[in-house]
Amino acid sequence: MRHLLNILELSTDEIDRLIATADDIMDAPEKYQNACSGKILATLFFEPSTRTRLSFESAMLGLGGKVLGFSDSSSSSAKKGESVADTIAVASAYADIIAMRHPKEGAPLVASLHSRVPIINGGDGGHYHPTQTLTDLLTIRHEKGRFDGLTVGLCGDLKFGRTVHSLIEALSRYAGVRFVLISPKELELPPVVREEYIEKKGIPCKVCRSLEGAMGELDILYMTRIQRERFACEEDYQRLKDSYILTPEKLGAAKPDCIVMHPLPRVNEIDVQVDNDPRACYFRQAYYGRYIRMALILMLLEEGKDGKSVPDKAHLPLPENRLPGGVCRNPHCITTTEQGLEQCFTREGSGEYRCFYCETKVE
Ligand code: CP
Repeated sequence: MRHLLNILELSTDEIDRLIATADDIMDAPEKYQNACSGKILATLFFEPSTRTRLSFESAMLGLGGKVLGFSDSSSSSAKKGESVADTIAVASAYADIIAMRHPKEGAPLVASLHSRVPIINGGDGGHYHPTQTLTDLLTIRHEKGRFDGLTVGLCGDLKFGRTVHSLIEALSRYAGVRFVLISPKELELPPVVREEYIEKKGIPCKVCRSLEGAMGELDILYMTRIQRERFACEEDYQRLKDSYILTPEKLGAAKPDCIVMHPLPRVNEIDVQVDNDPRACYFRQAYYGRYIRMALILMLLEEGKDGKSVPDKAHLPLPENRLPGGVCRNPHCITTTEQGLEQCFTREGSGEYRCFYCETKVE
């Protein structure tokens, strides 16, 4: 049985195959309309969503399957204090595949260890959002025709922006990619992402505080929302929320074939007047999301056909090289809320220890 928690779990060949399947579904949807007949997708969303949840549900319905789930944790027994592990142990007896979103980082990893069926991470806190990355890759392939040799500007909340982290990890595999990181100092990319996927790979990277300073050199401008829900202090959010607003005037300095992407939802970081520019492709991006998720559901269900589903609630196989004792310092880590979850730190090749669940470095 295979889960998708992090984009790095997919090889470049597998990403290419998913894109090819998504293209085929877009070309001939009728070929796939009964591909998941008799199968059930559970969408368990402990945090709000429009695109991810609805595109997963639309994807399963388009494949001839059925859907169940919740869009608000307050309507589930999580409200009564039920753990992620118990919720998943039960829900995975009612469905063939689960797409979930949770505000705590590492929650899908905990889910995968207690599930009878494949778990797809639909976003865990500021950590990962691999199916948004698959959506982004399909969009780039369609809009730019390639991944190699692109200069990609990432703008806004690079600290908590899980879509940005997953996209950098995915694009860092392709030759000639260059990143321009556009953010306020307070919302810079986490050091772990920068070190692992940019510096260690020798990828050219420029840090910029203004959109204007970067616009002319970009092939892709990936805008993100400053996420109010990730701030501990409302004052900080108010100070930073309008750091970057893309207007038609600013876009005027971009290359004629530069595309503007955004995982959405937007608040006001892209002026609605920009929507009329053909380079604005964020609504097309949302459209592609349905098809790449169809391809992913097909892939994970196909790989599960070997019958190796977990017969009963699984036990956590904690890594053998774990550090005894200690408490994860990340306030967004699943270990801060999940009862009965043992703290666990894994040792990196560099000798550093990281939380097994949220990957925060032990200081
Ligand atoms: N892009 C994205 O994850 O959107 P939702 O939060 O609406 O799912």
